[in-house]
Amino acid sequence: MVKVLFVCLGNICRSPLAEGVFRELVREAGLGARIAVDSAGTGRWHVGEPPDPRACAAAKGRGIDIGGLRARRVSAGDYTAFDRLVAMDLANHRSLVARSPSGAESRVGLLLDYAPESGVREVPDPYYGGDEGFERVLDLIEAGARGLLAEIRRDLD
Ligand code: 4NP
Repeated sequence: MVKVLFVCLGNICRSPLAEGVFRELVREAGLGARIAVDSAGTGRWHVGEPPDPRACAAAKGRGIDIGGLRARRVSAGDYTAFDRLVAMDLANHRSLVARSPSGAESRVGLLLDYAPESGVREVPDPYYGGDEGFERVLDLIEAGARGLLAEIRRDLD
């Protein structure tokens, strides 16, 4: 079993979208029993809340339901519970590395490193933007999620 944790700041926009998109790709690939998916935030402001309504609507537009997710904060135990902690942007990547127990840093990655063709390294924070921001975010997340799944499949083979 490979366990993947997607991480953003609030765990109400980008990382729940990444969780939903990646879970769907895993399901389509028939790997639901071999790859586990979750998400969390480095910040604590939105703990317990469902994803932002704009994120839910954007996901629904692509046939993905993330309405049942609830925000939580990254915990120390996540570094042993998950094989990969995948950050949405560089600030959250830095936070994850800074909080990492020694030896676990190699588990921390950056989503768009799995989609070099996207030409960007960060999924932008859509919280203060408009709905079109969520479409861009979803496009980037889909690209990163596909690349990540391809890499994990190589590990599983
Ligand atoms: P997320 O978006 O990190 O993609 O969930 C944000 C959600 C909330 C805040 C910032 C970003 N906030 O400042 O409350």
